[in-house]
Amino acid sequence: MSRYLILALIYMLFLQQLASCYKFPIVINTWPFTNATKAAFHTIYDERKSYLDAIVAGCERCEIDECDGTVGPEGDPDESGEVTLDAMIMDGKTMDVGSVGCLRNISSAIRVARAVMDYTDHTLLVGELATNFAVEMGFKRTDISTGRAQAVYQKWLKNHCQPNYRQNVSPDPRSNCGPYSPNPTNWFQTNPHHESRSNKGIGPTNHDTIGMVVIDTQGNIASGTTTNGLGNKIPGRVGDSPVVGAGSYAENGKGGAAGTGDGDIMMRFLPAYSAVQMMGRGVDPMTAASQVLKPITAHYPKFAGAIITINSQGIFDISGRVRNTPLALPASGAQDARYSLRLCLLSLFTIWTND
Ligand SMILES: *[C@@H]1O[C@H](CO)[C@@H](O)[C@H](O)[C@H]1NC(C)=O
Ligand SMILES: *[C@@H]1O[C@H](CO)[C@@H](O)[C@H](O)[C@H]1NC(C)=O
Repeated sequence: MSRYLILALIYMLFLQQLASCYKFPIVINTWPFTNATKAAFHTIYDERKSYLDAIVAGCERCEIDECDGTVGPEGDPDESGEVTLDAMIMDGKTMDVGSVGCLRNISSAIRVARAVMDYTDHTLLVGELATNFAVEMGFKRTDISTGRAQAVYQKWLKNHCQPNYRQNVSPDPRSNCGPYSPNPTNWFQTNPHHESRSNKGIGPTNHDTIGMVVIDTQGNIASGTTTNGLGNKIPGRVGDSPVVGAGSYAENGKGGAAGTGDGDIMMRFLPAYSAVQMMGRGVDPMTAASQVLKPITAHYPKFAGAIITINSQGIFDISGRVRNTPLALPASGAQDARYSLRLCLLSLFTIWTND
């Protein structure tokens, strides 16, 4: 009797595993950066490396390709002409996170984020001191503000330092370069910021970020981001990308999410965290993605940004508000079902031996 029960159980496990075989592993990311999607998929699928390795490989591909000039070295510089990088990686199995903000002089921010996760108990390291940590861990200090970054910088200077993210300072930042000093406080003046923000032209070439989520055949979920941040940002600015729950979030059994767009706004609402918790309560990925943008657009009607969501069953979707620009496209890498099946049966075997 009990033997039949065990056989039935094994059979059910097998069927369940077989069903998930056609879906996992799966890689989705923001924007049509298909080189990155393929690199992540190749890493977890052909090289049989982990879901975390897939995130690193995918994000690093974009750093090397300098995707849209918004990821990696030689991208959009800050007000002083320097390129600084933000990145994060999250392990939805252990809830470990490694991230870096305003990282100077290192090309691969996602690898440094991984090093923070692997070699420290911390979550986030920033600035020059994060660079020192990276060098200790074997990374090479280089100039990442060369080439395209200098051309962008010169153009910005010629354009009277526009777009510009200062407010309430003199001289008028809408037509003048710095240095700036604060205006005397006028208590009767309402904050002009909400309206002016939409005129900064936040679009595909100056926004940010690749955000990526990977799920392996065992249901382990990882997320990651990497970017050089908003073009012409004020030196020291860190965007949403390295902030847990803003740039991305992953939690086994619930799902993963990653954002792209106006990070200064998005990080005030933790959309990735909210979306994953919603999916954990059974809300479908499409509803979750659009629901988490609602409070943002309620406060900032001209907000530009998007979020990708994927639940633990591998169903993914996107919601976004980006004026006149293509929406981020999630791309699935699960194309070769035969190969997937083989990998899957292997993972079934691991489940058995582990138990
Ligand atoms: C994708 O990779 C190919 C070959 O490695 C490269 O030639 C191409 O420029 C990359 N695409 C982008 C958008 O960077
Ligand atoms: C670090 O970056 C700065 C700003 O781009 C650059 O001037 C400097 O040469 C870089 N340092 C090294 C060691 O490459």
